[in-house]
Amino acid sequence: MVAARSVSLRLASACRAACQSARPQTTTAPFVRATAAAISPSSSSRSSHALAVHRDSTDNHANIPFKFSAENEKLIAEILKRYPPQYKKAAVMPILDLGQRQHGFTSLSVMNEVARLLEMPPMRVYEVASFYTMYNRNPVGKFHLQVCTTTPCQLCNSDSIMKAIEDHLGIKPGHSTKDGIFTFSEVECLGACVNAPMVQINDDFYEDLTPETTVKLLDALKTSGELPINTTVITGGVPSEVQGVPKPGPLSGRATCENSKGLTSLTSPMWGPETTRADL
Ligand code: FES
Repeated sequence: MVAARSVSLRLASACRAACQSARPQTTTAPFVRATAAAISPSSSSRSSHALAVHRDSTDNHANIPFKFSAENEKLIAEILKRYPPQYKKAAVMPILDLGQRQHGFTSLSVMNEVARLLEMPPMRVYEVASFYTMYNRNPVGKFHLQVCTTTPCQLCNSDSIMKAIEDHLGIKPGHSTKDGIFTFSEVECLGACVNAPMVQINDDFYEDLTPETTVKLLDALKTSGELPINTTVITGGVPSEVQGVPKPGPLSGRATCENSKGLTSLTSPMWGPETTRADL
């Protein structure tokens, strides 16, 4: 049964890779450690098997040591408490995510360390990391721009957002800027369709985009990204409210996903019981 599951995962991964030859990985992490030296403009370009296959490179091979920080070890102990000891492998996803956040990307060494900690065969960890596109198995830039182009976003002109990014940064989806600040990815639905078109940048969603607000956002991020690292507020998301970077959420002035045209129904005074029952 395990073998069958393994095969089905690999098949799913292969199918997805084949269907998404131009669809790179997504992430939720800030990739502060990814430098221009680590990210060549073409290093994240994808071939049809890119999501499923590992190729050793200077910054990603099994001999690069990786250990979780003391702070993350405490978090791991806390995560493991949620599972019976004999099922601790169930914690593989949050612990891989921690590894990605610490190291900058989900390298082979990160996966091997997670396998060691959870007493899992490394192949089981590779299967998870290659199936879920939130794990970046190659370095990405400091700001990972993941533009959704699934149908609702496309109907709201996500093509113009893709073009604005391509034109402004001079890179195509799957590539990083030479300065290592941006990686540009095209992704599938991120669940914010009601605020389409949208982009996920590290952990944050920016929504209701236009080409103009997108370019403004990129400029603000670039300014913040060029600050020395110790003066930039790096959290799980973008450096919010630093150097004019807008707060995540809709950039159209909407608070959340309310109708941008205002109320179009339920505008008359509410009926009370007396409306239909004058005798009451
Ligand atoms: S279609 Fe773009 S967020 Fe759902």
